[in-house]
Amino acid sequence: MAKALVLKDITKRFPLVLANDRISLDLEWGEVLALVGENGAGKSTLMKIVYGLQPPDAGEMWVDGKPYRPKSPLDAIGAGIGMVHQHFMLVEPFTVLENLVLGLEPGSPLFLDLEAARKRAEKLMEELGFEVPLDEKVENLPVGLQQRVEILKALYREARILILDEPTAVLTPQEAKELFRFLRVYVQKGNAAIFISHKLKEVLEVSDRITVIRDGKVVGTVRTKETSLEALARMMVGREVVLRVAKGPARPGEVVLEVEGLEAPPRLRGVSFFVRAGEIVGIAGVEGNGQTELVEALAGLRKYRGTVRYLGHPLPHLALKVREAGVSHIPEDRLARGLVLDFSVRENAILGDQHRPPFRGFLGFLDGKAMEQHARTLVETFDVRPRSTDLSARRFSGGNQQKIVVGRELLRGPRLLIAAQPTRGVDVGAIEFIHQRLVEARDQGLAVLLVSADLSEVISLSDRILVMYEGRIVGELSPEEAKEERLGLLMAGVPA
Ligand SMILES: Nc1ncnc2c1ncn2[C@@H]1O[C@H](COP(=O)(O)OP(=O)(O)O)[C@@H](O)[C@H]1O
Ligand SMILES: [Mg+2]
Repeated sequence: MAKALVLKDITKRFPLVLANDRISLDLEWGEVLALVGENGAGKSTLMKIVYGLQPPDAGEMWVDGKPYRPKSPLDAIGAGIGMVHQHFMLVEPFTVLENLVLGLEPGSPLFLDLEAARKRAEKLMEELGFEVPLDEKVENLPVGLQQRVEILKALYREARILILDEPTAVLTPQEAKELFRFLRVYVQKGNAAIFISHKLKEVLEVSDRITVIRDGKVVGTVRTKETSLEALARMMVGREVVLRVAKGPARPGEVVLEVEGLEAPPRLRGVSFFVRAGEIVGIAGVEGNGQTELVEALAGLRKYRGTVRYLGHPLPHLALKVREAGVSHIPEDRLARGLVLDFSVRENAILGDQHRPPFRGFLGFLDGKAMEQHARTLVETFDVRPRSTDLSARRFSGGNQQKIVVGRELLRGPRLLIAAQPTRGVDVGAIEFIHQRLVEARDQGLAVLLVSADLSEVISLSDRILVMYEGRIVGELSPEEAKEERLGLLMAGVPA
């Protein structure tokens, strides 16, 4: 039997990077193939080529044994390929049903197809064992359901090869499990799926085979049954990595941050907790449950109601004052808030402290020597590669950019660190490095409030875990208690 999909020597160059370097892989009917690799490895680029969103510079493809050269997604759909993107492509003010029909037959009036569409959609959902409210507007659906709409839309178009690009990034563990169950049913019916992720545990759970890519090249393909977490991690980053954080028990001291009845619109609806010196308190939760509001309120970037005490005194409401008081902040979006991409490392290394000694020198001019010295220390202590202080932040990989942010925030000697998604989108090597620095800082007495959508990060780093759901804290667990299942239930709003 012909293979579902064969790629041979697919190559794609962007101005700054060879994103796909002679990638070859194949997908059998009836299997889930996982495509794994660090951020920036070239996974999305490859799948966009398969889906006809961009042409390869070189290489060939076959679908079910036939040569395949898509000029647009319409060709991909015609060949039976469906894709669920990292960012959804639904029309939000439209209902689920309208979204299913939309764009399928250009020029045909929507309303004519709706009743027939409903019948087909219902049949599909029954066959595949999941449900979506067909008459609800997409904008009113939680992300987990929006993703199902994307899947349903692909199936509605008779996709026999389904590509899912980082589908679990927006899901709770339970929702991810349901997705995996669906994928197994889908391929058992003789279809095929490519599942992209950089989370190795789930890759091991759902796939039949795994293709690892690194720096645009295929490192290897392995059978899921014959590999392990450690072996995959090694393939992904090219060396052994410790996936667990080495840390002793916390020795908490005085209360550094005390929060009472903190409310911040639109989503933070009243939280109370404290963080002591020398401990890491993790906030777990699906994104969009008030975490962003919490972080921004504490960092002085957003208006709030309630009491926030820092070292026994009210915390100022102004970002600059919060910083001056000794509070550091790793923002969740390093590109928007953490770095000025066109500034050099030297400039980025003092962002937020540029008005203070030692950087503000004689007559208020910036002291170039102090800046250089500081940036040097940063790139060396935080292993920023390349070790340049002149290059603009834009020129560094995601992991190295994040090391610059983390280094800047830790080197200023804070008493409290608010760390929001501190390792989002960075490679395994950088994650390990950043985790170790955070634990070290904790051991030296830093109070850390960690907000992360990555459960394994919260569990491995935190000394105490608070779970947020719909703007409130719905539970506190120790990392030992926080079996992912229980934590996941709390995150989904099911009281434990
Ligand atoms: N449209 C583009 N223009 C320029 N560079 C791009 C473009 N798309 C992706 N890249 C670069 O190609 C590399 C691979 O990116 P991507 O395929 O998105 O990786 P992954 O999905 O594995 O995280 C990255 O270095 C990224 O910055
Ligand atoms: Mg990607």
